Amino acid sequence: PMLSLANAFSAEEIEQFHERVCKGLEIDHVDYVAEPKLDGVAISLHYQNGVLRQAATRGDGATGEDVTSNVRTIAAIPLRMQRHGQAPAWPASLEVRGEIYMPLAGFHEYNRKAREADEKELVNPRNAAAGSLRQLDSRLTAQRPLAFYAYSLAADSGVPGSHLEALQLLRAWGFPVNPEVRRVRDAAGCLEYYADIGEKRPSLAYEIDGVVFKVEQREQQEILGFVSRAPRWAIAQKFPAEEEITRLLDIDVQVGRTGALTPVARLEPVFVGGVTVTNATLHNLDEVRRKDVRPGDWVVVRRAGDVIPEVARVVIERRDGELSQFEMPQQCPV
Ligand code: IVH
Repeated sequence: PMLSLANAFSAEEIEQFHERVCKGLEIDHVDYVAEPKLDGVAISLHYQNGVLRQAATRGDGATGEDVTSNVRTIAAIPLRMQRHGQAPAWPASLEVRGEIYMPLAGFHEYNRKAREADEKELVNPRNAAAGSLRQLDSRLTAQRPLAFYAYSLAADSGVPGSHLEALQLLRAWGFPVNPEVRRVRDAAGCLEYYADIGEKRPSLAYEIDGVVFKVEQREQQEILGFVSRAPRWAIAQKFPAEEEITRLLDIDVQVGRTGALTPVARLEPVFVGGVTVTNATLHNLDEVRRKDVRPGDWVVVRRAGDVIPEVARVVIERRDGELSQFEMPQQCPV
């Protein structure tokens, strides 16, 4: 099965995860492998005698969707495995898992061309990768700038007991592995990595939505096992989402020191960008009209970095019934 990962949103949750791992293994220190969590599409690749035979997406987790002919057009995925340096021979049958993604440069370039040709633009890199794999005509997939990073190897034999070594072996066999992958120690090492990658995030060539920590030693992974759909030996620490959907309860009017009136959105509290947001600026009446925001609407709230939270747009599909337009007061409300 293709499983999912438990999520952590705070340092405390990582510390708790590490404590559970220590307790389960009856040890005081644990080595983890830390990896960026790419925002793309999970893929399972089957190789027979070093030749790509089948590629499948997650599907329902047990039965995937066969996307072999589309995956064959992705240059980063070897059709035939290679042997770099002193790489050992591979087992007759093996499975490589990883993430297919669209690098940001390719995404922007594709959209620039689409705009010029008056064709439809891609919404975001994640949807773009998923949509590209679903094409019925693989010539269309071939035109999309897709890339791939491998993050796991499975076979009946010949798989190193260390996850880091397994990744190095994948590299030697011709699979791209993320160069940001590191071995870290204990919760402190995990949290340091999270902070480092968070700083690097704006300069990375691809979108990530967090980092993943995996117990390095397979023997230890086996002791820890699984809970329902996720391993006990791994966790994803997510970056706070910068956009969330919530309800616009009302629009109030703030009177500034100079008498300027500013419409302010009163929101159903929502956790976005790492804080709970209850108010967001709507700037002025022109903005309210341009965005067609009405009390009772579902809205996208955005909070990037340290900027003031704002209402990015209305989720118009979710508007039910007639909502009345907001009007500025005729008299000073204070
Ligand atoms: S490991 C059982 N490593 O995140 C663990 N997953 O919630 C299997 N993902 O859809 C996943 N980057 O495609 C792992 N470095 C990484 C990842 C990663 C992205 C995705 C994965 C899956 C989801 C898991």
